[in-house]
Amino acid sequence: VIEIPVDVPGGRYCISVGHGLAVALPELFPNWRGARIVVVSSPRIWALHGRAVGGALRGMGRVQPVMIPEGESRKTLSTLKGLYDAFLEGGLARDGLVVALGGGVVGDVAGMAAATYMRGVNLLQLPTTLLAMVDSAIGGKVGVNHPWAKNLIGAFHQPRGVVVDPLFLRTLPAREVRSGLYEVVKCGIIGDADLFAALGRLSPDPSGWSRVELEGAIASACRLKAEVVEKDEREGGLRRVLNLGHTLGHAFEAATSYRRFAHGEAVGWGLLGAALISRRRGLLPGGPFEAIHQAVERLGPRPPVSDIPPRRVLDALSKDKKKREGKVPFILPRGIGRVTIKSDVSRGEILGALRALRLAE
Ligand SMILES: NC(=O)c1ccc[n+]([C@@H]2O[C@H](COP(=O)([O-])OP(=O)(O)OC[C@H]3O[C@@H](n4cnc5c(N)ncnc54)[C@H](O)[C@@H]3O)[C@@H](O)[C@H]2O)c1
Ligand SMILES: [Zn+2]
Repeated sequence: VIEIPVDVPGGRYCISVGHGLAVALPELFPNWRGARIVVVSSPRIWALHGRAVGGALRGMGRVQPVMIPEGESRKTLSTLKGLYDAFLEGGLARDGLVVALGGGVVGDVAGMAAATYMRGVNLLQLPTTLLAMVDSAIGGKVGVNHPWAKNLIGAFHQPRGVVVDPLFLRTLPAREVRSGLYEVVKCGIIGDADLFAALGRLSPDPSGWSRVELEGAIASACRLKAEVVEKDEREGGLRRVLNLGHTLGHAFEAATSYRRFAHGEAVGWGLLGAALISRRRGLLPGGPFEAIHQAVERLGPRPPVSDIPPRRVLDALSKDKKKREGKVPFILPRGIGRVTIKSDVSRGEILGALRALRLAE
């Protein structure tokens, strides 16, 4: 088991990474013995993993499973309200425990419910997608969408623990796995050259990796996010580096009404775009530029960006909620494991990068 401690103002907890941990929860959390537990999941995930995880949790305390509907479109206030109702019906009290078993959607909604029910109850994240393992389950951001804007209604609520069991990935569709891998590549570029190099040596399909390789790559990505979050829990500045590839990535997603890309695929395009802008500014040497290009391309194929009108991308960028004083900050790579934040990226530079991406396709 790889243990990654996370030190945040709300308290200290661990990200535990290891095959089979999801069924070893009672041993991992002896203090929760006898607790009242509500496990939040979705029907698809529960059908695949509910029996094993539910069984393990029953070794800890009284368990009530609660299902929320599938998908980003149901990450809403009405789903959240359903959870409050279920918590009340189940008699969940301040000392109870909410377990989020699922991808980022389940983690964000269940986390938001745990953050606000009775002004906050204990939360355990049990991520089942690669994206959730390396990204959404870590850092304490929880929330739901508003019809006009994603993640508009949210809170910071650190979990008591994050348990990452890579065995969950065996049932995850290959496209979702690849989508998460773009985020792992992102972590390498932001601050872990060893992780980046390891990914280059491994096959692009993690189903062929050994347990040690898979746990190592996931743990490295988790460690990077945890370190950034420790230094900047509330996203004052540094935490923004985690948005590498996301400025353009979000714009590509928005410009295609969130229908075309898996999130990580759009981030893949965004990573290439950021590298192009950085290269043209002379901030990124040719060697690492090529390395980033290759690292992204070998995970492909991704749905195209060539038919998205540049105007639509610029429009989406101008609505970016991370905007400060009219400009969207871009995270630009300066090498492998080194990034910088620039708020003066011009329209011309963005259009230039879009043109190059279209040509590269
Ligand atoms: N809180 C944060 O800091 C943060 C960071 C990044 C992303 N997010 C959020 O995460 C969400 C995306 O998360 P996601 O990519 O995990 O999507 P998701 O939760 O929608 O899961 C993707 C799909 O995979 C299925 N699935 C999950 N685990 C499975 C498994 N083990 N086997 C088979 N199927 C499985 C789900 O049922 C779903 O259909 C977005 O809402 C995004 O806003 C939050
Ligand atoms: Zn992301």
